[in-house]
Amino acid sequence: MRIVSGIQPSGELHLGNYLGAIKQFIALQEQHECFFFIADLHALTESSDPDELRQRTHQAAVDYLALGLDPQKATLFVQSQIPAHSELMWLLTALTPVGELERMTQYKDKAAAVKKQELVNAGLLNYPILMAADILIYKPQAVPVGEDQKQHLELTRNLAERFNGRFGETFPVPEPLIPKTGARIMSLADPKKKMSKSNGEENVIGIFDAPELIEKKVKRAVTDSYKTITYDPKRRPAVTNLIDIYSLLSEQKPADVVRHFSGKGYGDLKSELAALLIEKLAPFRERREMLLQSRAHVTAVLEQGAKRAHGIANDTLHEAQRRMGIR
Ligand code: TYM
Repeated sequence: MRIVSGIQPSGELHLGNYLGAIKQFIALQEQHECFFFIADLHALTESSDPDELRQRTHQAAVDYLALGLDPQKATLFVQSQIPAHSELMWLLTALTPVGELERMTQYKDKAAAVKKQELVNAGLLNYPILMAADILIYKPQAVPVGEDQKQHLELTRNLAERFNGRFGETFPVPEPLIPKTGARIMSLADPKKKMSKSNGEENVIGIFDAPELIEKKVKRAVTDSYKTITYDPKRRPAVTNLIDIYSLLSEQKPADVVRHFSGKGYGDLKSELAALLIEKLAPFRERREMLLQSRAHVTAVLEQGAKRAHGIANDTLHEAQRRMGIR
């Protein structure tokens, strides 16, 4: 099976990115042909400092490698290095009704955060078309993502079907691979919101956070006024989120985690969770320290990945261009 996915270089990766997406990438690279990229073009819609973007893009590559993505097994590259993504995007814009883009929840949220509506940049609106191009250009069967990308994947599938219907069978319609648990890790400070850096540092656990910081954030995580530990996503989202995180890191079922904590309180749950996080995340931090010393190696990995991606992407682009009558 061929697999494609990407992550924006928007700063420190957090536990949501890891449990929702990257953990799947690492498992998938063992058995499938994988393409994982750093979505720097997508980051342009929200970033304006060129040096910072360059730095974050390199950092994202370091982080991918530190977490266990293996350039011998998967193709790792930077989106902007493959111009065919942007070119296919333009072809797909002709098949995308503006109304469909305006209905995207992520667009609505991000546009609402901009004070003056006339200043909402067109990139935010067109973002999911670029995402569809990122995917379809490799003709994958599946795309591992967290729950928040599901709607974008739906648009990708619609565009593939529309293109095939109008111009002839070209793109396989890709399946989203959304994990059963972990697809939506919630904020530690507000369990009604997903874990996301845009809500502030206290909402996220960074994968590379120092042990003391992890401990502090877990201790401060909101809970509720019930005394016992039970799994109840609707009524007890905060505690359920902590159980989910514990369950994913310890590879136990949530029911077994609840059993483990029966008769214990939030203090126990939090201190054991913090210890587990520190233990599981430590190797990533160590690997990252080492990789930060080897800039040339990381650059070489990305160059090699781009070379591999380039050939496949160009073939698909040319095919789509021929189908549409511009080649
Ligand atoms: P991004 O960079 O926001 O997030 C990267 C991945 O992490 C997942 N994720 C989460 N999963 C569980 N709980 C959370 N709280 C959480 N927060 C983030 C996301 O679902 C995602 O899988 N548009 C994409 C990047 C992209 C892309 C693509 C993805 C660009 N082109 C093509 C797949 C295919 C994004 O901004 O993800």
